[in-house]
Amino acid sequence: MKILLLGSGGREHALALKLRASAQAVELVSAPGSDALGELGQRVALDLEDPAGVAAWCAGNRPDLVVIGPEVPLVAGVGDAVRALGIPVFGHDAATARLEGSKAFAKAFMERHALPTAVSHTVTDLAAGEALIHSWSHGLPIVLKADGLAAGKGVVLAASQAEALATLRAFMAGQFGEASRTVVFEAPLVGMELSLHVLVDVDADHATYALLPACQDHKRIFEGDEGPNTGGMGAFGPLPFLKSEDIELMRTRLVEPTVRGLQKDGLRARGVLFLGVMWTARGPELLEYNVRFGDPETQVLMQLLDEDLAALLLEVAEGRLVARDLKLKPHTAIAVVLAAEDYPEGAKKGVPIYIGNPPVTVIHAGTKKVAGQWLTNGGRVLNLATSAPDLVAARAAIEEALPEVHWPGMQVRNDIGLKALCHAEAGKTVQDPW
Ligand code: AMP
Ligand code: GLY
Repeated sequence: MKILLLGSGGREHALALKLRASAQAVELVSAPGSDALGELGQRVALDLEDPAGVAAWCAGNRPDLVVIGPEVPLVAGVGDAVRALGIPVFGHDAATARLEGSKAFAKAFMERHALPTAVSHTVTDLAAGEALIHSWSHGLPIVLKADGLAAGKGVVLAASQAEALATLRAFMAGQFGEASRTVVFEAPLVGMELSLHVLVDVDADHATYALLPACQDHKRIFEGDEGPNTGGMGAFGPLPFLKSEDIELMRTRLVEPTVRGLQKDGLRARGVLFLGVMWTARGPELLEYNVRFGDPETQVLMQLLDEDLAALLLEVAEGRLVARDLKLKPHTAIAVVLAAEDYPEGAKKGVPIYIGNPPVTVIHAGTKKVAGQWLTNGGRVLNLATSAPDLVAARAAIEEALPEVHWPGMQVRNDIGLKALCHAEAGKTVQDPW
């Protein structure tokens, strides 16, 4: 099976490793890919924001399946353009991708379909935004979100009215271009955040889905959840204290209304939805939709999934997903990010990386290879990923592997999964204060 994989990061490397482990022979082509992806197959230089260009390559090369990693090509309509050629695509239509591409669209969808989420107001002019801040009655922080894609930087939790006003002015002045000229204000949600991934196959005549295990990301750069936000410094799953009735609650309150809502609205879905969930005192509520796999959640999920990934993604792409419990290893998986010096403000590139013989999976997120030597080439450089019978053993396996991979200035959090482990060992549940 010839598969074109769009993207270049750790998520795509994890998907590629799993695709290559499929039962049938997989010929992998990545675009634009990375040096690490290049070791698993051919690379082609395609512009992921150019649907016509990607479609032209597909028309000439006829892949059996196209897998779209990041949100940008989905929002740009690459899925629609390639699907129009009759080629199966794992990746939603642009109309569906607006669930991530426009926070205002996503909030309107949630409200229309009665999904539990934070109260919100969408504002398109400065005076209305300022008036809203002056009369704010939802408590602090005031959550401001740039409507459009902002590379994960478009959400600000303003601790005061003054900070909210400054953020609003920066957004409206075009901090993220057109993406921040519409601003969504939200009441703060308090609780435990988790990442729930669902494969979805929705069309006019059917609507099926399959849940993946819930994971938890660690967004802050430093241990103990201190310091600035990053794209994610590590993740693990499933959560040790999450019970089957908790999963059922997320299924009935969040997943099923979403799937039914897509169908009611005539939105075709052929890919994954990643629900950002906050488990509040009222139960699970939706923070956001992503229309792609999370990074580093994917690195965790690929350790757990005991299915033929190429066959599974093709099933979704061809609109014939059979609703079922996916086969999973009875393990806990963990992915720890090794980040560059200066991340997240910047990233020191070109630093030689020592990679010995770690007894875990090494996933490349931001590296390049020059004369046989791996160098840092992005903020999140590598991930170490593994699975073990429980979270304690998974954390121990990473700890053992860590001395085998390093470079000067490398940043790593040694507490991935630790807070959840303490929560579980104290006998607490998802409902208890986090
Ligand atoms: P989003 O891109 O919407 O997920 O926002 C980024 C991060 O901001 C989330 O992962 C949460 O940690 C936080 N966040 C977003 N919305 C809220 C909210 N209404 N209340 C509290 N935290 C939020
Ligand atoms: N790990 C969070 C994300 O992929 O958006």
